[in-house]
Amino acid sequence: MRRWPLPTILPGPEPWWTLAAARGGLLAAILEANPGVSGVVFDLPHVAAMARRQLQASGLAGRCRTEAGDFFREVPGGGDLYLLRKVIHDWDDERARVLLRCCRAAMTEAARLIVVEMVVPAGNEPAYAKLLDLLMLVYAGGRERTEVEYHDLLKSAGFSPTRLVATASAVSLIEAKPI
Ligand SMILES: C[S@@+](CC[C@H](N)C(=O)[O-])C[C@H]1O[C@@H](n2cnc3c(N)ncnc32)[C@H](O)[C@@H]1O
Repeated sequence: MRRWPLPTILPGPEPWWTLAAARGGLLAAILEANPGVSGVVFDLPHVAAMARRQLQASGLAGRCRTEAGDFFREVPGGGDLYLLRKVIHDWDDERARVLLRCCRAAMTEAARLIVVEMVVPAGNEPAYAKLLDLLMLVYAGGRERTEVEYHDLLKSAGFSPTRLVATASAVSLIEAKPI
């Protein structure tokens, strides 16, 4: 978590927008590991307020802005890179598509989206992501998805998936650009 290599995966664009960012832990890790990078945290108002306090306490507020809103209504524009970690799996396809379309509407042609999620492997072999799929269904009405399912979802929301990058942890990065 401390060594997020995203800028080397996708050099150039900033600021980094982390949507539904909770207390901003992911962005804080990115900023700590990459002194030249700035970012924006976006979440529901009461959560964004917590993130603001947390980022101030960690001395990163100078490189990080906090914005509040509802990602089913509108996502702020102006970002070069929008990062959604462990957000899409909270929602069924219909809700996830609304959320992604709001992101798409906020993004310019040059902006990029990175979805960070576990990707369910194809086939019938046991996999942790399959267990989590059940948990997400029961706990949140959400789901884990295969690579093909992520691609279909992204395409239906106005994105073209560009690549999938495995990480040393259980999650992968699914990069997409606006169509
Ligand atoms: C599972 S957490 C993921 C947090 C963070 N991305 C991470 O990786 O630690 C889901 C986040 O979505 C936020 N969220 C839920 N509904 C939202 C909405 N309608 N608009 C904006 N954020 C929302 C929650 O407040 C929460 O912080």
